[in-house]
Amino acid sequence: MRQVSNSPLPTFVVTDPIEAARELALRLRDLVAEQPNFVLGCATGHTPISTYQQLAGLASSRAIFGGLRTFNLDEYHGLASDHPGSFESFMRRHLFAPLDLSPERTLFPRCCEGESPVQAAERFETKIQESGGIDLQLLGIGRNGHIAFNEPGSARDSRTRLVELTASTRAANAPDFPDGTPVPTGAMTMGIGTILDARRLHVLAFGVHKAEIVRRALREPASREIPASFLREHEQVELWLDDAAASSL
Ligand code: GLP
Repeated sequence: MRQVSNSPLPTFVVTDPIEAARELALRLRDLVAEQPNFVLGCATGHTPISTYQQLAGLASSRAIFGGLRTFNLDEYHGLASDHPGSFESFMRRHLFAPLDLSPERTLFPRCCEGESPVQAAERFETKIQESGGIDLQLLGIGRNGHIAFNEPGSARDSRTRLVELTASTRAANAPDFPDGTPVPTGAMTMGIGTILDARRLHVLAFGVHKAEIVRRALREPASREIPASFLREHEQVELWLDDAAASSL
């Protein structure tokens, strides 16, 4: 592992993403062992899967993570929670089932029956506050610079809300809907302000297809056009890259 010296935020580069996944899983285990009511912010997408696999594979992880609470960054709007393409299904497959976490401990921004998106968003933000706030938020970066589903144009102080997905994001996520279900056009997402409220942020980006957006997020002036650029404002943020994603720095 090496550190990028001239980056505006602590930036670690590994040869193989699995190295980062192992390191993050061990750190999380230690943090949760010290603080059993730990609140973890979870991300979906391909990037965090190896970290979840490492976490699930740690010895005695079920006992350690029994008191964990989680909040997911985002969820498709209007998609049943048990649809294979939903982020809730993704999390059950990759982390919650292996850790035996019950649904009551894992919250997603989604509308309950009869609830409007505005009410659901307020309820989600209130639940985060009632939990004491997110201790550590895992994040990926979309190819267009989105974080969670905060697409380019999202405000720095945005909160949880219903958003429309861009065509490029829907195309990028189409492989998660192999049965031909159209990728939903909307999603509920934590806002950038919600994300920046977490006490720590661990941002992951792997692969050469992330190299250009990583460069822009670190080197260009922070702006709404690159939502990931706002992550630089956080005081406890770390970026984990592989050599390919760091290749344009
Ligand atoms: C998705 C998610 C983001 C994720 C991003 C990158 O649409 N909403 O939270 O970080 O896209 O996904 P991947 O890790 O598959 O590149």
